[in-house]
Amino acid sequence: MSIAEVSVEAADHAARERRVAVVTGAAGGIGLSIAERLAADGFAVAVIGRTPGTAAAAADAINANGGVARGYDADVADREQVDAALAAIRADLGAVSVVVANAAVAPQQAFLEMTLDQWNTVLGINLTGTFNTVQASLPDLIDAGWGRVILISSSSAQRGAPRMAHYAASKGGQMAMTKALAVEFGKAGITVNTVAPSSVDTPSVAKKRAAGTIPSADDMAKFIPVGRVGVGEDIAAAVSYLVSDQAGYVTGQTLSVNGGSFIG
Ligand SMILES: NC(=O)c1ccc[n+]([C@@H]2O[C@H](COP(=O)([O-])OP(=O)(O)OC[C@H]3O[C@@H](n4cnc5c(N)ncnc54)[C@H](O)[C@@H]3O)[C@@H](O)[C@H]2O)c1
Repeated sequence: MSIAEVSVEAADHAARERRVAVVTGAAGGIGLSIAERLAADGFAVAVIGRTPGTAAAAADAINANGGVARGYDADVADREQVDAALAAIRADLGAVSVVVANAAVAPQQAFLEMTLDQWNTVLGINLTGTFNTVQASLPDLIDAGWGRVILISSSSAQRGAPRMAHYAASKGGQMAMTKALAVEFGKAGITVNTVAPSSVDTPSVAKKRAAGTIPSADDMAKFIPVGRVGVGEDIAAAVSYLVSDQAGYVTGQTLSVNGGSFIG
C-alpha cells in the first residue's frame, strides 16, 4: 500500500470514529459557520450545497483546518437528490447522528403581487426541503437510539416581516414541525430544536444591503439591545450546545439568537 493510500485509509478511519453531522446550505453563510463549528467539536461533517462544487470547496477548507468534512451537491427541494446525497454520506462517513436543516431562500415580494410559483418555491425549499432532509436522515438516528435535529428558522416567524409572507410562513412551519417531531421522537432518544436567528451578517445579507433593500449594519445595530448585528458563529454556538450530549433534556424548543431584539 502506498503512503497516499495509507493516509486516505487513516482519514476514512478517523471519519468513521466520529459522529456524523449533516448541514444543508453549508457552502457559505450561517451554514458554513455551523459546519466549521461542528467540525471543531469533533463531528465528521457532511456539507450539502446546491451550487455544484461549492460544498466540496467548503469541505476542503474545513479539512485544511484539521476537521473532517466532505461536500455533497443537492437541491434540498428535490427528494431524489437529497436521498442520493444521504446514500453517499452513509457510504463515505457512516450513519448520520445530527441533522441541521439550514438551507433556505429569503426573497422579498409584496404579498398582493406574489405569484403562486414564488410562494411554492419558497415553501418548497425552506419547508419541504426541511421535510426531505430530516425524513431522509432520521432512520439512522432512530437505529442508533440517539440523535439531534436542528432546524434553522428565523425571527421573521416570530415578529413578521413585510414582503416576506412566504418566507415567514415557511419559517413558522419549521417551528411547528420542531414541536411535532420532538413529541413523536422523544422516546427514540432524539431531540428536535429550532434556532431562530435575526440580523446575521452573511454574504446574502450583504447583497441585500448593497441593493438598499435592508438597512446598514450600523443602523440595524441601533435597534439591537446588545448593540451589534449577529455573526454566523453566534448561531453556530447555539447549534453546538443543542447537539451536545448535555442538551438531552432540551427538546421542542426555539432558541432565539437575536441579540435581545424583538420577541421570542
Ligand atoms: N442571515 C440572517 O440574518 C438570517 C436571519 C434569520 C434567519 N436566517 C436563516 O439562516 C439560514 C442561513 O441563512 P444565511 O443568511 O446564511 O443565507 P445564505 O443565503 O447565505 O445561505 C443559505 C444557503 O442555502 C443554500 N440553498 C438555497 N437553496 C437551496 C436548495 N434548494 N438546496 C440546497 N441549498 C440551498 C444557498 O446556496 C446558501 O448556501 C437560513 O435558513 C435563513 O433563513 C438568516
